[in-house]
Amino acid sequence: MTDRTWRIGVAGLGTVGAGLLTFLAEHPGFAPAGGRAVVSGVSARSRSRPRPFDISNLPWFDDPVALAQSPETDIFVELIGGSDGPAKAAVEAALAAGKPVVTANKALVAEHGAELAALAESKGAPLLFEAAVMGGTPAVKMVREALVGDDIKSVAGILNGTCNYILTEMEASGRSFAEVLAEAQRLGYAEADPTMDIGGFDAAHKISILAALAFGCAPNYAAAEVEGIAQVELLDIRMAKDLGYRIKLVASADRSEEGVLVRVHPSLAPLNHPLAQAGGALNALFIEGARVGRIFVQGPGAGAGPTAAAVAADIADVMAGAVRPVFQAPAGTLRPFEPVDPSRSLSRAYVRFLVKDEPGVIAAVSETLAEAGVSIESFLQKPVENADGVPIVLTTHAVAESVLAAAIERIAGLSAVLDKPRMLRIARI
Ligand SMILES: NC(=O)c1ccc[n+]([C@@H]2O[C@H](COP(=O)([O-])OP(=O)(O)OC[C@H]3O[C@@H](n4cnc5c(N)ncnc54)[C@H](OP(=O)(O)O)[C@@H]3O)[C@@H](O)[C@H]2O)c1
Repeated sequence: MTDRTWRIGVAGLGTVGAGLLTFLAEHPGFAPAGGRAVVSGVSARSRSRPRPFDISNLPWFDDPVALAQSPETDIFVELIGGSDGPAKAAVEAALAAGKPVVTANKALVAEHGAELAALAESKGAPLLFEAAVMGGTPAVKMVREALVGDDIKSVAGILNGTCNYILTEMEASGRSFAEVLAEAQRLGYAEADPTMDIGGFDAAHKISILAALAFGCAPNYAAAEVEGIAQVELLDIRMAKDLGYRIKLVASADRSEEGVLVRVHPSLAPLNHPLAQAGGALNALFIEGARVGRIFVQGPGAGAGPTAAAVAADIADVMAGAVRPVFQAPAGTLRPFEPVDPSRSLSRAYVRFLVKDEPGVIAAVSETLAEAGVSIESFLQKPVENADGVPIVLTTHAVAESVLAAAIERIAGLSAVLDKPRMLRIARI
């Protein structure tokens, strides 16, 4: 414990930066570990932009790298965003100068985590990023610290609030993906360019970080298999519900003897499962450990207040002098991340075909699946108003994804099949 004053340089004064400065203004001398935090400098793109707090008395830096290197900065807080560019340059500059860094930047950590960890550890400087995954809901420290005594087998969850909001609204209002996305953009729940969110890339950044922390690997974002929610149709949301499931964008990381499988895709969760019940913009996470069993945590994954709380918690850790490896193990010993070929993995699946309403079609579909060795668990045929054909939906028992894909391709070639079949995995949760 120390009564030292820690001078905080904050780069990025947008949603999270504003949340942090508001928090520090409301908690003068924020001193969870006996020290005292004061803001010693700020940086953003525009000095003159109106902001919800007064920065006129704070030293201003046009260049975040200069703020990172300033002798007046004891802890550098990076809240700019982006995997490269000014955020990366400033974080590297701070670490190279041996300064502790706190960031909320999942893209940076997922894509450059190993090299930044090596730099941080070589300089003895902490690099902390609790806010990068699930915003204000604890996830990073839980996996890296609280569960370090266990062998984690899998982590899976809803890690993108925008997608969860859109899927929840589609089901509740009966509107299409495009309509709900447009409304979410109007209300400010989705970015003007929503690609990172709806394409699943934001969730992939977060699950890549959790996989690294859980399994003692370097993050390997490039190996993540990613599918977003743009292709999710209202028809599938309704048919899945009739079968007892809800469609969620699930990000998962599983460890097996073969290696690690990291993926993000729309998946079916049983209606009574906590993941299916985490609605709106909530985030939720399941962790399965060999000894501790299953842990579930749910809460806000974004927003100024919650995310700033996570940033403040990291600042408190620096002030307390906590020193740990950036990931689960020292950077020099991080095992390479062995990606598993997803086509060899076993999944239960939901498959929808749109077929002509004529005799023999269901038999042809069932026979093709049986010949391929795909075992059907349940089957639903339901006429839909204003549809050209009849949707038939089935769920399968666990099957190798390559086997199922080949069978679906064969069925798609039948003359009675009117549209491209749709396959969604049933979440392994
Ligand atoms: N928003 C959330 O709820 C949330 C949750 C968890 C994690 N995060 C992460 O937190 C980080 C910040 O997100 P945010 O939502 O706060 O972003 P934001 O609202 O877009 O704010 C970005 C800030 O960075 C500043 N900036 C941009 N380019 C700069 C440059 N070249 N030099 C200096 N400053 C620059 C901007 O300046 P101007 O203000 O002058 O334009 C702005 O203040 C991102 O990594 C994000 O992924 C956000």
